[in-house]
Amino acid sequence: MNESKYPVKRGKEYVLKIEKLAFGGAGVARVDQYVVFVKGTLPESVVRVKIGRRKKNYAEARLIEVLEPSPQEQEAPCPYFGWCGGCTWQNLSYRDQLKHKQAIVEESIHHLGGLSHIDVLPVIPSEQIFAYRNKMEFSFSDRRWLLPEEMDSDTIDRKFALGLHVPGTFDKILHIDRCLLQSETANDILQTVSAYCRQEGLEPYGIRSHQGFLRFLVIRQSADTGQIMVNIVTGFEDTKRLLPLAKKLTETFPQVTSVVNNINTRLAQIATGEKEVLLAGQSFIQDRIGPFVFNISANSFFQTNTAQAEKLYDKVMEFAALEGREVVWDLYSGTGTISLFLARKAKEVIGFEIADSAVEDALQNARDHQITNVRFVGGDLIQQLHQISPGPDVLVTDPPRAGMHEQVVRYINELAPGRIVYVSCNPTTLARDLAILSRRYDIEKIQPVDMFPQTYHIETVVQLHLRGGER
Ligand SMILES: C[S@@+](CC[C@H](N)C(=O)[O-])C[C@H]1O[C@@H](n2cnc3c(N)ncnc32)[C@H](O)[C@@H]1O
Repeated sequence: MNESKYPVKRGKEYVLKIEKLAFGGAGVARVDQYVVFVKGTLPESVVRVKIGRRKKNYAEARLIEVLEPSPQEQEAPCPYFGWCGGCTWQNLSYRDQLKHKQAIVEESIHHLGGLSHIDVLPVIPSEQIFAYRNKMEFSFSDRRWLLPEEMDSDTIDRKFALGLHVPGTFDKILHIDRCLLQSETANDILQTVSAYCRQEGLEPYGIRSHQGFLRFLVIRQSADTGQIMVNIVTGFEDTKRLLPLAKKLTETFPQVTSVVNNINTRLAQIATGEKEVLLAGQSFIQDRIGPFVFNISANSFFQTNTAQAEKLYDKVMEFAALEGREVVWDLYSGTGTISLFLARKAKEVIGFEIADSAVEDALQNARDHQITNVRFVGGDLIQQLHQISPGPDVLVTDPPRAGMHEQVVRYINELAPGRIVYVSCNPTTLARDLAILSRRYDIEKIQPVDMFPQTYHIETVVQLHLRGGER
């Protein structure tokens, strides 16, 4: 596009009125019909912005000043709001959050998917809107990111932080005493670990220098039993320095039934170790979704909002409408939780999953629950789907954010199962995939489920029926 064809100039300031919120959380404004995304803004506010990156259909702009605040704005309860990258919608009431999530799903389906005639059911809200997460991962750093009011303090140790990331900085960490998304006991554990490590001189890992001991603190709590696992991830093995901390945690907090040390000597900033040392208690905790109790070890995947996961899976079951005779395929099956739910009402379930560790967990979960009518196919499902015949009667799919590969969507249309249940964590890729599926399928129901209050994230379950006797 020629410079003259862009309705906005890079680097130039504009005064804009924010119309709505987009998936990703940014405010949306328009200059003529050209869309401008502005992070950190709310609908109905009037803002001064500076234009940054421009694309054919939209530009991104940086907020300079709020000229008229949004009437929807409320005070965010978290003191780290605006700095921490975690929950960017805390300054909206939960009712408004749900309204915007609903609008985002509708807008995606109607405009991006071109499916303007289809209604979206009201979002199923989360009963808990704070302290709903069963897992939080905090990073240690030798460079603390200072809040404006901390800049001049000489009592703050700038070489120790345990907390969360500030968007746009990779090596500095915002030190956090309390996160509203986890339980108060988990917050007490966070503070205990932080104080102990500082007192005892356990050195944090430098995300830039790659030197140092402490890398991550992961706290997991069972919604079912209240049991807590504390996982300390270090850059090298030195068990004797951690044993007194493990003892202190189990003595102070009776809920702590597991303390483990994952050792990650690699450069990659991930909280998964190549080796795990058990420091106290057991190496797993147990949580329940519906009738199923799962053993969760430090590196297993588990849905982070347990109560909502049950509602989500119940909706999948309702939309799958199984009668017991069906062969069901569960695409992107992860650790097989949806497969187990489906297996109770199906003849056979085949799960497809690329991650070997998830397939192993899925097999173990099936054995633990004596479920024998499920099997799991490892590898990339683009290849694997073609190896299995006949095709399924019902197909459930729960792809990652990028949605399904176009080849997979087209192949599903060819396979033509009678019913499809699509579980999506990204309304934009969902809309794209539904547009292709709708060539052969009627979209019966679209049900958003809120798993992540205070954030823009939204899960959606869709029921599709093969159009009359086409198969
Ligand atoms: C959103 S998760 C689904 C989790 C699972 N259904 C559940 O409820 O716990 C997506 C899963 O797709 C898997 N995956 C991603 N790409 C894949 C591919 N090309 N083939 C097979 N599995 C894939 C990921 O490893 C991940 O476990």
